[in-house]
This record gives sequence, C-alpha cells and structure tokens, in this order.
Amino acid sequence: MAPCYPDPPDATGLAVDELDTPALLVDLDALERNLATMAGFFAGRPAHLRPHVKTHKCPEIARRQLAAGARGITCAKLSEAEVFAAAGFDDILIANQIVGPGKVARLMALAHRARVTVAVDDQENIAALSEAAQREGLRLPVLVEVDIGMGRCGVAPGQPALALARMVADAPSLELAGLMGYEGHLVLVRDPAERKARVEAALAPLIETRALLEREGLPVRVVSGGGTGTYDITGAYPGVTEIQAGSYVFVDATYRPVRPEFEPSLFILATVISRPDPGRLVVDAGLKATTGEFGPPQVVGIEGVESVRLSEEHGRIALAEGHTATLRPGDRVRLIPSHCCTTVNLHDRLHAVRRGIVEAVWPVAARGCSW
Ligand SMILES: Cc1ncc(COP(=O)(O)O)c(C=O)c1O
Repeated sequence: MAPCYPDPPDATGLAVDELDTPALLVDLDALERNLATMAGFFAGRPAHLRPHVKTHKCPEIARRQLAAGARGITCAKLSEAEVFAAAGFDDILIANQIVGPGKVARLMALAHRARVTVAVDDQENIAALSEAAQREGLRLPVLVEVDIGMGRCGVAPGQPALALARMVADAPSLELAGLMGYEGHLVLVRDPAERKARVEAALAPLIETRALLEREGLPVRVVSGGGTGTYDITGAYPGVTEIQAGSYVFVDATYRPVRPEFEPSLFILATVISRPDPGRLVVDAGLKATTGEFGPPQVVGIEGVESVRLSEEHGRIALAEGHTATLRPGDRVRLIPSHCCTTVNLHDRLHAVRRGIVEAVWPVAARGCSW
C-alpha cells in the first residue's frame, strides 16, 4: 500500500540544519562508540549478545550490531521478525508468545525462511505450535518462559517450568532450546549495588530451574534474558547464555543515569515555532514525534530549562528566571527522547548523522510492526 503522502526528498548529504523537522537523528559516532562498549563487555565471555531490535526496528543498525559481534537478534513481535527475515536475518528469537491460529500459521511460514525461536508458557499453545510444526514438517525451537519477578508472561520457576519443558521435549516437532527469564522490573534500579543484588536474586531460581531440567535429562542449550540496565550482571551470571539488550545503542533520557558508559545517540531535531514570551519556547515536536510515557524529553544545550510539556504537535519548554536562551522562531533544538523504543516507532526514517552532515537515511523498516 503506497503511503498517502509524498516521500520527502532524499536528505543524504544535507547539513543537519537543512532537514525539515521534526526529524529523528542518530549520531553515528555515538552509536559506534555504544556498539564498541557493548562488544568490549562480551569479548571473551561465555554469554553473548542477541540484541533486541524492537529498540530501532532498523536492519541497518542490526547489521552493525552483528558486525560488532552479536549473535542473532531478538524481536518482540512476529511482524518485526517477518521484516528482519525479509532483510536477510536468519537467526531470530521472538521473545514473546505466538498465540492464535492466524499467528501460528504466519510463524510456520516464517520458520521455513529463517531459524526462528519462540517463547512459550502455556500447554495449549505448546500443543498448537507442535501440531502446526508437524503439519509443516518443521522442528521449531522453543524457550520455556519463566517469570523471575516481573509479573508479565512466564510460568513459575521449578516444577511448573519443568512440566512445560517436558511437554516441549516430548513434542516431536518442537525442540526444547532452553529457558527465558526477563528481569524487566529491575533494569532501571538506580543504585548499581542494589541492582546487582536484586538481579542476582531474581536469576538464582532461573538457573536452579536450568539445573533441575538437566538433572531430569532435559538439555538446556539457551538461557536468555537481560536488558540494557542489567547486561553486565545477567551477562556475567553463570548459566545465562545470551542477553537481549536493545536500548544501549541509543540510551534515552530514562536510561542515561543508569548507564553512564553509553552515550545518547538518538535525538529529535525540532524547530522553535513560537516564542510567545521570554520564559517560553514552543517547538514543533510533541507526542507524535517523541513519546511521553516515561516523562518529557531532555532538551540539549539550553541552560535554564524548567520543564518540558508535550501536547500532540507542540513541545512547550519553560525557562527559569535568569535563563540566557536567545532562541527565536526558526532556530533548531535537539531533544533526547525519554523512551527510545516507542519514539523510533513514530518515525518512518532515521537520519544517520556524522559531524553535522546526514551520511545516510535509514528506513525504520519495522515501524508499526506490533501485530
Ligand atoms: C523480553 C525483553 N527482553 C529484553 C528487553 C531489553 O530491552 P532494553 O535493552 O531496552 O532494556 C526488553 C525490553 O522491554 C524485553 O521486553
């Protein structure tokens, strides 16, 4: 289906200030340093990185992650996996449950084209996946998802996980690849020592479950989990084999204080459209350019910002008494999104910028792929 609006002219080679706004930018130098920092952590470790591509939805960035040493990719949704498979990625974990006949049929079609692994936490779903895989002559790798405290998907560690793992192992068309446990409730714990203690306490029952399965004769090749806030704790925990971190490539305003070793690389370029009084700037980026569920974005390079409030298409920047900002309508402002993953999903393209010049324009190929 063709979009109902014309494509903008190719911006490759333009100076950033020539871009129309709001525009999504990625600073290539910062992105490359983030990739190198993460690669440095995993070098020589038993665990590896399987980056979560829901963060950027952009094959160009995923290719750079693999080139930096990552093995395979993680997707949140089937449609994301379909886009990345079409772009040539052949080792994909969908860290989610694929439920319902329509979705299962699509999963089978995808599994003919790429090695796809899915998470399970339900007997009926296991039976449905097994029957479909058998009909298709496939052997589908599956991770049993264990709830390690987040209270989202997953069965309890120990016997409930063992029962599902046995069912998977007994299904002729499924392969028990291992376990998944995501400690998403801990990724933003601010104090590093507290984060480490709580993450290790959450991982202990996951790794005990691994040992239980192995004692019962069920091999566990994969134990998958972890995010940007926990990669160095979970990625060093004995028995964990892969880490699903995604946000480290961009580091949004929410992750910034938690992860100072990474730099913000994702920005919204906005234009000042109104300066109604000396204490207020209004820019052309609101909730349709940068999401607000984790709070407002951060404003780059302007002293004395008191608050930022977003409405649909406006960002109101209130300036404190005594500020020195002289910006006028037409001037440009950069914002650091408060949540990179949902912000990227608002944009069709990502402008890859180096030292003020647009080096490339990358499609956000899996934008809107939440089905
Ligand atoms: C299942 C799963 N794994 C990993 C992540 C890690 O993401 P991030 O690196 O953005 O913290 C997420 C984020 O929501 C997730 O849902």
